Amino acid sequence: MHKRTLFRSALAAAALAACGLSFADDNVFKIGLILPMTGQQATTGRQIEAAAKLWMAQNGDTVAGKKVQLIVKDDTSLPDVTRRLAQELVVNEKVNVLAGMGITPSALAVAPIATQSKTPLVVMAAATSSITEASPFVVRSSFTLPQVSVALADWAPKNGIKTVVTLVSDYGPGIDAEKYFSERFLFNGGKVADKLRVPLRNPDFAPFLQKVRDLKPDAMFVFVPSGAGAAVMKQFAERGMDKAGIRLIGTGDVTDDDQLGDMGDVALGVVTSHHYSAAHPSPVNKKFVADFEKANKGLRPNFMAVGGYDGMRIIYDALKKTGGKGGGEALLGAMKGQIFESPRGPVFIDAQTRDIVQNVYLRKVEKKDGQLYNVEFDVIKDVKDPGKSRK
Ligand code: PHB
Repeated sequence: MHKRTLFRSALAAAALAACGLSFADDNVFKIGLILPMTGQQATTGRQIEAAAKLWMAQNGDTVAGKKVQLIVKDDTSLPDVTRRLAQELVVNEKVNVLAGMGITPSALAVAPIATQSKTPLVVMAAATSSITEASPFVVRSSFTLPQVSVALADWAPKNGIKTVVTLVSDYGPGIDAEKYFSERFLFNGGKVADKLRVPLRNPDFAPFLQKVRDLKPDAMFVFVPSGAGAAVMKQFAERGMDKAGIRLIGTGDVTDDDQLGDMGDVALGVVTSHHYSAAHPSPVNKKFVADFEKANKGLRPNFMAVGGYDGMRIIYDALKKTGGKGGGEALLGAMKGQIFESPRGPVFIDAQTRDIVQNVYLRKVEKKDGQLYNVEFDVIKDVKDPGKSRK
Protein backbone atom coordinates (compact mmCIF):
# COMPACT_ATOMS: atom_id res chain seq x y z
CA MET A 1 0.00 0.00 0.00
CA HIS A 2 2.70 2.40 1.10
CA LYS A 3 4.82 1.43 -1.90
CA ARG A 4 1.92 1.96 -4.22
CA THR A 5 1.29 5.44 -2.79
CA LEU A 6 4.97 6.27 -3.22
CA PHE A 7 4.89 5.01 -6.78
CA ARG A 8 1.77 7.04 -7.51
CA SER A 9 3.25 10.25 -6.16
CA ALA A 10 6.46 9.65 -8.13
CA LEU A 11 4.35 9.25 -11.26
CA ALA A 12 2.40 12.39 -10.44
CA ALA A 13 5.60 14.35 -9.86
CA ALA A 14 7.03 13.15 -13.19
CA ALA A 15 3.82 14.09 -14.99
CA LEU A 16 3.87 17.53 -13.37
CA ALA A 17 7.50 18.14 -14.29
CA ALA A 18 6.86 17.14 -17.92
CA CYS A 19 3.84 19.43 -18.14
CA GLY A 20 5.78 22.52 -17.27
CA LEU A 21 7.72 22.10 -20.49
CA SER A 22 5.00 21.77 -23.09
CA PHE A 23 1.74 23.50 -23.85
CA ALA A 24 -1.18 21.77 -25.48
CA ASP A 25 -2.13 24.44 -27.94
CA ASP A 26 0.18 27.29 -28.82
CA ASN A 27 -2.65 29.68 -29.53
CA VAL A 28 -4.56 29.25 -26.30
CA PHE A 29 -3.47 30.63 -22.97
CA LYS A 30 -5.19 28.88 -20.08
CA ILE A 31 -5.76 30.27 -16.61
CA GLY A 32 -6.89 27.68 -14.05
CA LEU A 33 -8.87 29.67 -11.50
CA ILE A 34 -9.58 27.59 -8.38
CA LEU A 35 -12.04 29.18 -5.96
CA PRO A 36 -14.49 28.28 -3.20
CA MET A 37 -17.76 28.69 -5.13
CA THR A 38 -19.83 26.83 -2.51
CA GLY A 39 -19.55 26.38 1.26
CA GLN A 40 -18.39 28.76 3.96
CA GLN A 41 -16.11 30.83 1.72
CA ALA A 42 -18.50 31.05 -1.26
CA THR A 43 -18.68 34.86 -1.23
CA THR A 44 -14.94 34.93 -1.95
CA GLY A 45 -15.40 32.73 -5.01
CA ARG A 46 -18.34 34.73 -6.27
CA GLN A 47 -16.46 38.02 -5.89
CA ILE A 48 -13.23 36.84 -7.54
CA GLU A 49 -14.94 35.09 -10.44
CA ALA A 50 -17.04 38.20 -11.13
CA ALA A 51 -13.95 40.40 -11.02
CA ALA A 52 -11.93 38.13 -13.32
CA LYS A 53 -14.80 38.13 -15.82
CA LEU A 54 -15.10 41.92 -15.58
CA TRP A 55 -11.39 42.25 -16.33
CA MET A 56 -11.79 40.08 -19.42
CA ALA A 57 -14.92 41.92 -20.57
CA GLN A 58 -13.04 45.22 -20.30
CA ASN A 59 -9.76 44.03 -21.82
CA GLY A 60 -10.77 41.36 -24.30
CA ASP A 61 -9.76 37.72 -24.45
CA THR A 62 -6.95 38.00 -26.97
CA VAL A 63 -3.52 38.92 -25.63
CA ALA A 64 -0.26 38.77 -27.58
CA GLY A 65 -2.10 36.85 -30.30
CA LYS A 66 -3.34 34.21 -27.89
CA LYS A 67 -6.87 33.37 -26.89
CA VAL A 68 -7.18 33.58 -23.11
CA GLN A 69 -9.32 30.85 -21.60
CA LEU A 70 -10.47 31.06 -17.99
CA ILE A 71 -11.21 27.68 -16.42
CA VAL A 72 -13.06 28.09 -13.10
CA LYS A 73 -13.11 25.19 -10.61
CA ASP A 74 -14.89 24.98 -7.25
CA ASP A 75 -12.70 23.60 -4.44
CA THR A 76 -15.42 24.13 -1.76
CA SER A 77 -12.49 25.56 0.29
CA LEU A 78 -11.18 22.07 1.12
CA PRO A 79 -7.39 22.00 0.54
CA ASP A 80 -7.35 18.34 -0.56
CA VAL A 81 -9.79 19.25 -3.30
CA THR A 82 -7.75 22.33 -4.25
CA ARG A 83 -4.66 20.13 -4.62
CA ARG A 84 -6.46 17.55 -6.77
CA LEU A 85 -7.97 20.23 -9.01
CA ALA A 86 -4.61 21.96 -9.44
CA GLN A 87 -2.99 18.68 -10.39
CA GLU A 88 -5.71 17.97 -12.98
CA LEU A 89 -5.49 21.48 -14.39
CA VAL A 90 -1.73 21.21 -14.83
CA VAL A 91 -1.57 17.63 -16.11
CA ASN A 92 -4.74 17.39 -18.21
CA GLU A 93 -5.59 20.96 -19.16
CA LYS A 94 -1.97 22.11 -19.32
CA VAL A 95 -2.86 25.48 -17.85
CA ASN A 96 -0.26 28.24 -18.19
CA VAL A 97 -1.14 29.84 -14.86
CA LEU A 98 -2.84 28.69 -11.66
CA ALA A 99 -4.80 31.34 -9.77
CA GLY A 100 -7.40 31.99 -7.07
CA MET A 101 -6.82 30.30 -3.65
CA GLY A 102 -9.65 31.39 -1.34
CA ILE A 103 -7.97 30.39 1.90
CA THR A 104 -4.42 29.85 3.13
CA PRO A 105 -4.58 26.02 3.42
CA SER A 106 -5.57 25.85 -0.27
CA ALA A 107 -2.66 28.03 -1.36
CA LEU A 108 -0.22 25.95 0.72
CA ALA A 109 -1.61 22.72 -0.75
CA VAL A 110 -1.00 23.93 -4.31
CA ALA A 111 2.42 25.58 -3.80
CA PRO A 112 4.44 22.33 -4.35
CA ILE A 113 2.54 21.69 -7.60
CA ALA A 114 3.45 25.18 -8.83
CA THR A 115 7.11 24.52 -8.01
CA GLN A 116 7.30 21.08 -9.62
CA SER A 117 5.51 22.09 -12.81
CA LYS A 118 7.07 25.59 -12.96
CA THR A 119 3.60 27.11 -13.21
CA PRO A 120 3.08 30.62 -11.79
CA LEU A 121 0.51 30.60 -8.97
CA VAL A 122 -1.26 33.95 -8.59
CA VAL A 123 -2.71 34.05 -5.07
CA MET A 124 -5.71 36.39 -5.23
CA ALA A 125 -7.24 35.93 -1.75
CA ALA A 126 -5.20 33.96 0.80
CA ALA A 127 -3.24 36.28 3.07
CA THR A 128 -0.93 34.47 5.50
CA SER A 129 2.51 36.04 5.24
CA SER A 130 4.41 32.77 4.64
CA ILE A 131 2.52 31.72 1.47
CA THR A 132 4.96 33.47 -0.87
CA GLU A 133 7.77 31.48 0.72
CA ALA A 134 6.07 28.14 0.08
CA SER A 135 7.02 28.28 -3.62
CA PRO A 136 9.21 30.55 -5.77
CA PHE A 137 6.33 30.46 -8.30
CA VAL A 138 3.83 32.24 -6.02
CA VAL A 139 2.93 35.86 -6.81
CA ARG A 140 0.37 37.55 -4.55
CA SER A 141 -2.24 40.13 -5.56
CA SER A 142 -4.19 40.14 -2.27
CA PHE A 143 -2.51 41.35 0.94
CA THR A 144 -1.02 39.98 4.15
CA LEU A 145 -2.44 40.13 7.65
CA PRO A 146 0.79 41.53 9.17
CA GLN A 147 0.70 44.26 6.48
CA VAL A 148 -2.74 45.52 7.50
CA SER A 149 -2.68 44.80 11.28
CA VAL A 150 0.21 47.01 12.40
CA ALA A 151 -1.41 50.33 11.40
CA LEU A 152 -4.37 49.67 13.70
CA ALA A 153 -2.06 48.90 16.64
CA ASP A 154 -0.51 52.35 16.11
CA TRP A 155 -3.88 54.06 15.84
CA ALA A 156 -5.63 52.42 18.84
CA PRO A 157 -3.54 53.65 21.81
CA LYS A 158 -3.69 57.21 20.47
CA ASN A 159 -7.48 56.95 20.43
CA GLY A 160 -8.36 55.94 23.97
CA ILE A 161 -7.83 52.19 23.60
CA LYS A 162 -5.41 50.99 26.29
CA THR A 163 -6.55 47.38 26.78
CA VAL A 164 -7.71 44.88 24.17
CA VAL A 165 -8.71 41.26 23.86
CA THR A 166 -7.85 39.72 20.48
CA LEU A 167 -10.29 37.31 18.81
CA VAL A 168 -9.06 35.56 15.67
CA SER A 169 -9.83 32.55 13.51
CA ASP A 170 -7.49 29.77 14.55
CA TYR A 171 -5.32 29.32 11.46
CA GLY A 172 -2.58 31.09 9.47
CA PRO A 173 -4.03 34.55 8.83
CA GLY A 174 -5.60 34.78 12.30
CA ILE A 175 -2.36 33.83 13.99
CA ASP A 176 -0.49 36.39 11.88
CA ALA A 177 -3.04 39.08 12.77
CA GLU A 178 -2.92 38.25 16.50
CA LYS A 179 0.88 38.28 16.59
CA TYR A 180 1.52 41.46 14.60
CA PHE A 181 -1.30 43.45 16.19
CA SER A 182 -0.40 42.39 19.75
CA GLU A 183 3.33 42.93 19.45
CA ARG A 184 2.91 46.43 18.08
CA PHE A 185 0.15 47.30 20.55
CA LEU A 186 2.36 46.19 23.49
CA PHE A 187 5.29 48.14 22.05
CA ASN A 188 3.02 51.21 22.00
CA GLY A 189 2.22 50.77 25.71
CA GLY A 190 -1.09 48.92 25.35
CA LYS A 191 -2.16 45.85 27.31
CA VAL A 192 -3.51 42.61 25.78
CA ALA A 193 -5.82 41.07 28.41
CA ASP A 194 -6.36 37.81 26.51
CA LYS A 195 -5.87 36.20 23.10
CA LEU A 196 -8.81 34.10 21.94
CA ARG A 197 -8.86 31.80 18.91
CA VAL A 198 -12.06 30.44 17.34
CA PRO A 199 -12.23 27.48 14.94
CA LEU A 200 -12.27 28.28 11.22
CA ARG A 201 -15.03 25.79 10.38
CA ASN A 202 -18.57 26.54 11.66
CA PRO A 203 -17.46 28.87 14.43
CA ASP A 204 -19.73 29.61 17.39
CA PHE A 205 -18.65 33.04 18.57
CA ALA A 206 -20.99 33.18 21.59
CA PRO A 207 -18.74 31.70 24.32
CA PHE A 208 -15.78 33.75 23.13
CA LEU A 209 -17.77 36.99 23.09
CA GLN A 210 -19.02 36.22 26.60
CA LYS A 211 -15.41 35.89 27.75
CA VAL A 212 -14.56 39.24 26.17
CA ARG A 213 -17.56 40.80 27.88
CA ASP A 214 -16.40 39.51 31.26
CA LEU A 215 -12.88 40.87 30.72
CA LYS A 216 -14.31 44.25 29.65
CA PRO A 217 -11.35 45.61 27.65
CA ASP A 218 -11.52 49.00 25.91
CA ALA A 219 -11.73 47.14 22.61
CA MET A 220 -11.92 43.74 20.99
CA PHE A 221 -9.56 43.29 18.03
CA VAL A 222 -11.01 40.87 15.47
CA PHE A 223 -9.79 38.90 12.49
CA VAL A 224 -12.26 36.55 10.82
CA PRO A 225 -12.08 35.61 7.14
CA SER A 226 -14.23 37.36 4.56
CA GLY A 227 -17.80 36.09 4.87
CA ALA A 228 -17.78 35.61 8.67
CA GLY A 229 -17.91 39.28 9.68
CA ALA A 230 -21.69 39.68 9.72
CA ALA A 231 -22.08 36.84 12.27
CA VAL A 232 -19.53 38.42 14.61
CA MET A 233 -21.16 41.81 14.31
CA LYS A 234 -24.64 40.41 14.98
CA GLN A 235 -23.61 38.50 18.10
CA PHE A 236 -21.55 41.46 19.33
CA ALA A 237 -24.73 43.56 19.20
CA GLU A 238 -26.96 40.83 20.69
CA ARG A 239 -24.73 40.61 23.74
CA GLY A 240 -24.88 44.37 24.18
CA MET A 241 -21.11 44.62 24.09
CA ASP A 242 -21.14 48.00 22.39
CA LYS A 243 -23.50 49.27 25.08
CA ALA A 244 -21.12 47.87 27.72
CA GLY A 245 -18.47 50.23 26.33
CA ILE A 246 -16.38 47.68 24.42
CA ARG A 247 -15.33 48.89 20.99
CA LEU A 248 -14.90 46.57 18.05
CA ILE A 249 -11.80 47.11 15.92
CA GLY A 250 -10.14 44.81 13.42
CA THR A 251 -8.69 44.25 10.01
CA GLY A 252 -11.13 45.17 7.24
CA ASP A 253 -12.10 41.52 6.75
CA VAL A 254 -14.73 42.00 9.49
CA THR A 255 -16.44 44.93 7.73
CA ASP A 256 -16.18 43.25 4.34
CA ASP A 257 -17.94 45.28 1.62
CA ASP A 258 -19.75 42.13 0.46
CA GLN A 259 -21.71 42.05 3.74
CA LEU A 260 -21.40 45.54 5.20
CA GLY A 261 -24.57 46.84 3.57
CA ASP A 262 -26.64 44.35 5.59
CA MET A 263 -24.86 44.62 8.94
CA GLY A 264 -27.07 47.36 10.33
CA ASP A 265 -26.26 50.24 12.64
CA VAL A 266 -24.14 48.13 15.05
CA ALA A 267 -21.36 48.50 12.47
CA LEU A 268 -21.50 52.31 12.57
CA GLY A 269 -18.25 53.78 13.90
CA VAL A 270 -16.26 50.53 13.69
CA VAL A 271 -12.63 51.36 12.85
CA THR A 272 -10.59 48.94 10.77
CA SER A 273 -7.35 48.96 8.80
CA HIS A 274 -7.18 47.46 5.33
CA HIS A 275 -5.96 47.88 1.78
CA TYR A 276 -9.31 48.27 0.01
CA SER A 277 -12.64 49.98 0.49
CA ALA A 278 -15.37 50.21 -2.14
CA ALA A 279 -15.58 53.85 -1.03
CA HIS A 280 -11.94 54.60 -2.00
CA PRO A 281 -12.31 58.00 -3.64
CA SER A 282 -10.26 57.62 -6.82
CA PRO A 283 -11.53 57.80 -10.41
CA VAL A 284 -10.08 54.32 -11.10
CA ASN A 285 -12.04 52.87 -8.19
CA LYS A 286 -15.25 54.71 -8.97
CA LYS A 287 -15.24 53.22 -12.45
CA PHE A 288 -14.34 49.76 -11.10
CA VAL A 289 -17.21 49.80 -8.56
CA ALA A 290 -19.74 51.13 -11.09
CA ASP A 291 -18.77 48.56 -13.75
CA PHE A 292 -18.70 45.70 -11.23
CA GLU A 293 -22.11 46.58 -9.80
CA LYS A 294 -23.57 46.96 -13.27
CA ALA A 295 -22.32 43.54 -14.37
CA ASN A 296 -23.45 41.81 -11.16
CA LYS A 297 -26.97 43.01 -10.30
CA GLY A 298 -25.79 45.65 -7.87
CA LEU A 299 -23.34 43.44 -5.93
CA ARG A 300 -20.74 45.66 -4.28
CA PRO A 301 -17.13 44.57 -4.90
CA ASN A 302 -15.04 43.72 -1.83
CA PHE A 303 -11.29 43.33 -1.28
CA MET A 304 -11.43 39.81 -2.71
CA ALA A 305 -12.78 41.18 -5.99
CA VAL A 306 -9.89 43.62 -6.19
CA GLY A 307 -7.39 40.80 -5.56
CA GLY A 308 -8.95 38.91 -8.47
CA TYR A 309 -9.11 41.92 -10.79
CA ASP A 310 -5.49 42.91 -10.14
CA GLY A 311 -4.37 39.28 -10.38
CA MET A 312 -5.83 39.13 -13.90
CA ARG A 313 -4.04 42.32 -14.79
CA ILE A 314 -0.74 40.86 -13.55
CA ILE A 315 -1.30 37.77 -15.73
CA TYR A 316 -2.32 39.81 -18.80
CA ASP A 317 0.69 42.13 -18.51
CA ALA A 318 3.08 39.19 -18.12
CA LEU A 319 1.59 37.55 -21.20
CA LYS A 320 1.90 40.81 -23.15
CA LYS A 321 5.54 41.25 -22.13
CA THR A 322 6.62 37.71 -22.96
CA GLY A 323 4.37 37.15 -25.95
CA GLY A 324 3.64 33.82 -24.30
CA LYS A 325 7.19 32.61 -25.05
CA GLY A 326 9.49 31.02 -22.51
CA GLY A 327 6.90 29.16 -20.43
CA GLY A 328 6.22 29.54 -16.73
CA GLU A 329 9.60 30.93 -15.76
CA ALA A 330 9.43 33.77 -18.28
CA LEU A 331 5.87 34.59 -17.19
CA LEU A 332 6.92 34.63 -13.55
CA GLY A 333 9.82 36.94 -14.39
CA ALA A 334 7.42 39.33 -16.12
CA MET A 335 5.12 39.38 -13.09
CA LYS A 336 7.89 40.48 -10.75
CA GLY A 337 8.32 44.22 -10.35
CA GLN A 338 5.00 45.18 -11.99
CA ILE A 339 3.73 48.57 -10.89
CA PHE A 340 0.27 49.97 -11.57
CA GLU A 341 -2.71 51.83 -10.23
CA SER A 342 -5.25 49.44 -8.74
CA PRO A 343 -8.77 50.38 -7.63
CA ARG A 344 -7.24 50.23 -4.12
CA GLY A 345 -4.51 52.79 -4.99
CA PRO A 346 -0.91 52.47 -6.27
CA VAL A 347 0.63 48.99 -5.91
CA PHE A 348 3.71 47.08 -6.96
CA ILE A 349 4.87 43.47 -6.92
CA ASP A 350 8.14 43.35 -5.00
CA ALA A 351 10.55 41.45 -7.28
CA GLN A 352 12.40 39.89 -4.32
CA THR A 353 9.44 38.65 -2.28
CA ARG A 354 6.78 38.38 -5.07
CA ASP A 355 4.41 39.98 -2.58
CA ILE A 356 2.29 43.06 -3.11
CA VAL A 357 3.37 46.43 -1.69
CA GLN A 358 0.44 48.78 -1.15
CA ASN A 359 -1.17 51.54 0.89
CA VAL A 360 -2.93 50.60 4.11
CA TYR A 361 -5.90 52.78 5.09
CA LEU A 362 -7.59 53.48 8.39
CA ARG A 363 -11.33 53.53 7.87
CA LYS A 364 -14.46 54.12 9.87
CA VAL A 365 -17.91 52.72 9.03
CA GLU A 366 -20.21 55.61 8.12
CA LYS A 367 -23.44 56.09 6.23
CA LYS A 368 -23.09 57.50 2.73
CA ASP A 369 -26.29 58.02 0.73
CA GLY A 370 -28.11 55.82 3.26
CA GLN A 371 -25.66 52.91 2.94
CA LEU A 372 -22.83 51.72 5.18
CA TYR A 373 -19.30 52.11 3.85
CA ASN A 374 -15.73 51.91 5.15
CA VAL A 375 -14.75 55.58 4.82
CA GLU A 376 -10.98 56.10 4.70
CA PHE A 377 -9.58 58.77 7.06
CA ASP A 378 -5.83 58.09 7.06
CA VAL A 379 -3.25 56.30 4.93
CA ILE A 380 0.13 54.67 5.46
CA LYS A 381 1.80 54.56 2.07
CA ASP A 382 3.67 51.73 0.32
CA VAL A 383 3.53 49.16 3.12
CA LYS A 384 5.57 45.99 2.61
CA ASP A 385 4.66 42.76 4.36
CA PRO A 386 6.41 43.09 7.75
CA GLY A 387 6.30 39.30 8.01
CA LYS A 388 9.21 39.09 5.57
CA SER A 389 11.69 41.56 7.02
CA ARG A 390 12.14 39.55 10.23
CA LYS A 391 13.93 36.57 8.81
C1 PHB B 1 -6.87 33.22 4.27
O1 PHB B 1 -7.30 32.07 4.46
O2 PHB B 1 -5.66 33.43 4.03
C2 PHB B 1 -7.81 34.37 4.31
C3 PHB B 1 -9.15 34.19 3.97
C4 PHB B 1 -10.03 35.26 4.06
C5 PHB B 1 -9.57 36.51 4.48
C6 PHB B 1 -8.24 36.70 4.80
C7 PHB B 1 -7.36 35.62 4.72
O3 PHB B 1 -10.44 37.54 4.57
